[in-house]
Amino acid sequence: MLDFEFYAPTRIIFGKTAMDSLPDQLEKNGAAKVLLVHSGGKGSKAAVDDAKKLMEKAGVQYSEFFGVKPNPLLSKVLEGIEFCKKDPPDFLLAVGGGSVIDTAKGIAAGVRLKDGEDIWKDYYFPKARFKDAIPMGVVLTIPAAGSEASFGTVVTHDELKTKRYTGGEPLLPKFAILNPEYTKTLPPYQTASGVFDIVAHLIERYFVKHPNNDLSDRMIEACIRTMLVNAPILMKDPANYDARAEVMWTGCIAHNKILEMGRTHGDWSSHDTAHELSGQYDMSHGASLAVILPAWMKYVYKHDIPKFLQFSCRVFDVDIAYDHPEAAIEEMIARLENFSHVMGLPTRLKDAGIDDGKFDLMAKTALDGRQYVGTGNGVYLLKEKDVKAVYHLAY
Ligand code: NZQ
Ligand code: ZN
Repeated sequence: MLDFEFYAPTRIIFGKTAMDSLPDQLEKNGAAKVLLVHSGGKGSKAAVDDAKKLMEKAGVQYSEFFGVKPNPLLSKVLEGIEFCKKDPPDFLLAVGGGSVIDTAKGIAAGVRLKDGEDIWKDYYFPKARFKDAIPMGVVLTIPAAGSEASFGTVVTHDELKTKRYTGGEPLLPKFAILNPEYTKTLPPYQTASGVFDIVAHLIERYFVKHPNNDLSDRMIEACIRTMLVNAPILMKDPANYDARAEVMWTGCIAHNKILEMGRTHGDWSSHDTAHELSGQYDMSHGASLAVILPAWMKYVYKHDIPKFLQFSCRVFDVDIAYDHPEAAIEEMIARLENFSHVMGLPTRLKDAGIDDGKFDLMAKTALDGRQYVGTGNGVYLLKEKDVKAVYHLAY
């Protein structure tokens, strides 16, 4: 096990009455002038309305910034920064999903940049770190991105159509209110998309170069099994509170870093490869992963057969034949794809209506001048030709 330091300061308030604590949480964090950031859409409206009512009742002064779309754009972050410069808030409250939270994070950090700094060029690349931000809190309405307790934020450049990840400790929300009741209105496709993103966050952390991580391996396996059991329940019974709660809590744990302690910080090749599909085709993040992740597995598993075999047996209960370990792994990939089908997600680009016309371009932009996608911690490093090959396998 590698040495590590664990820091996850976001206070999680979970359950049916979680929202009641909003005024207290704002007060504890000294929020005198709140900027409420949301999409303005129907899906998260119940939570937005509740947040407004509670703030009004408690006499909290707030203004609103809304219109955030899924796969959020850099231009919205820039618009929010200008908004804050005219009427500076001392606290941001993001109510919604990853897109709203990530936009709020970009605004919170963007407002504090020094003169002459360019938020995109200087900060939106994987190793960049914001050093300052307005403090923020979250009310989550869709379990998926894990941004409610992560220090990351992802946006798409409007013209370049490329999606980039960045982060920084000041972006860690002070609190996150997670009430699974709010998620009952999620349509099946959004539920499924969020579920697959969570599964992908777990898998990205599982297949890394460093061995001897028994506890975190088993915690990740338990999280994925929890998703395999509870997510399909929601396809038949969307109002099932307990299944909603299991998915929501797993989504938070999957991305708050606890599962990468003692090992390296995940691979993230599949995310880098999938992000280009959202950038170019506005494909939902989870659906892009449902297509890319099995293709990535097919492409790389030969580089770490023992780890893939462990995963196949422990998570998907696949039987091993001594002479044919690869058959067990291929069976696991088929079962993962079958899980996506049960959830109503595509597993091929063709099924998602995407042709092969931009594979060269996307392979280039996914690397963005780097030698390989991801962190360099994966079992096999994907260079440009490999990313292209993964797109072809996903086709
Ligand atoms: O705008 P409304 O009407 O609320 O509709 C939203 C939106 O259309 C809907 N929705 C949200 N809550 C709902 C609801 N519909 C019904 N009932 C509810 N309770 O869901 C749609 C999608 O929302 P979005 O915020 O885009 O979803 P998600 O949470 O999946 O976020 C995806 C974004 O997060 C990024 C992704 O790249 C993508 O841009 N990620 C952020 C990460 C991070 N910050 O650490 C890591 C992730 O890997 C990911 O890359
Ligand atoms: Zn993700």
